[in-house]
Amino acid sequence: MVQASAQLLDWYDIHARDMPWRVSPAARKRGVLPDAYHVWLSEVMLQQTTVAAVKEYFRKFIAAWPTVADLAGAEDSDVMAAWAGLGYYARARNLLKCARAIVTDHGGVFPSDPAMLLKLPGIGPYTAASLSAIAFDIPSTVLDGNVERVMSRVHAVEKPLPDSKEDLRALAAKRTPKKRAGDYAQAVMDLGATICTPRSPNCAICPWMSNCKARAQGTAETLPRKRPKPEKPTRLGVAYVAYSAAGLVLETRPDKGLLGGMLGWPGSDWAVDLPDHQPPCDAEWITLNEKVRHTFTHFHLDLTVRLAYLTPETALLRGGFVDMDQFDPTSLPTVMRKVWSAAESKVQLNNV
Ligand code: ADE
Repeated sequence: MVQASAQLLDWYDIHARDMPWRVSPAARKRGVLPDAYHVWLSEVMLQQTTVAAVKEYFRKFIAAWPTVADLAGAEDSDVMAAWAGLGYYARARNLLKCARAIVTDHGGVFPSDPAMLLKLPGIGPYTAASLSAIAFDIPSTVLDGNVERVMSRVHAVEKPLPDSKEDLRALAAKRTPKKRAGDYAQAVMDLGATICTPRSPNCAICPWMSNCKARAQGTAETLPRKRPKPEKPTRLGVAYVAYSAAGLVLETRPDKGLLGGMLGWPGSDWAVDLPDHQPPCDAEWITLNEKVRHTFTHFHLDLTVRLAYLTPETALLRGGFVDMDQFDPTSLPTVMRKVWSAAESKVQLNNV
């Protein structure tokens, strides 16, 4: 397979995408490796999230916390607020735990050994492999959605995902070169992202065109096959937007569970049948006509938004006031931002 990896690396030398956490193939050939902190941060952010969305967050994090020690010393609430909008908030909580473990257990230096990396919070097989390859040129096999698609096409794998995952990993491992492992890992991902795309792959310009079995059979666009996913149920909930001269009522969600550790509007639990619940305080609640819809990995959510103006005497059962001047909707997770968008024009700002 030396031939195949050499073909891909030649392509990557010319077509490598420029990303703020990357070191170009030319610089890597001169022995320059990227900062492991940058690679780790970008790889955690890139799980389930597009490169385009990640770039801006990556820059924001590096500006706020230039080193892993800076991040380890950050306030949890500042990191959660900076992550708001990226989704999958367990990643942000683990990010902090991992940064702190790097500082306390590893002297502030990321280990290069994938087995050591795997022991750190939030680092699974994908991140351990990509970090060890990209930051340290260790010949680990990286398997993400892009690589799965490329391997399933090159080898015309008919078995559907996720059953085929280990077969695809073995095929990917056979192609992984001993040298330039970091460039190779990024090259396969770039190939999947730019040429071997899910729909309409551009086979005519692919460096692996001549030995791609799916291309020969004319099945590239139909692979990888996927086991049908169960349909997503819809859950219901209520979110309460309460405001007064003291500001808006928000609460930090419990660490465990969905949107754990994030700031949000107090509300009901979310379930297929609307759960019994209490509003965050006694008030004259009005219900907005427009519901807020948001889709999570495993369900759709239909949120009813209720709104009330509070007098200074109102006692809160939950949450606390955030001064209007201090309120920044971008520090909320997306579903909570949608609630604010629905309620904002109705909140009489002169009352706040
Ligand atoms: N997706 C996740 N990590 C990536 C990387 N390092 N290069 C390109 N795409 C990616």
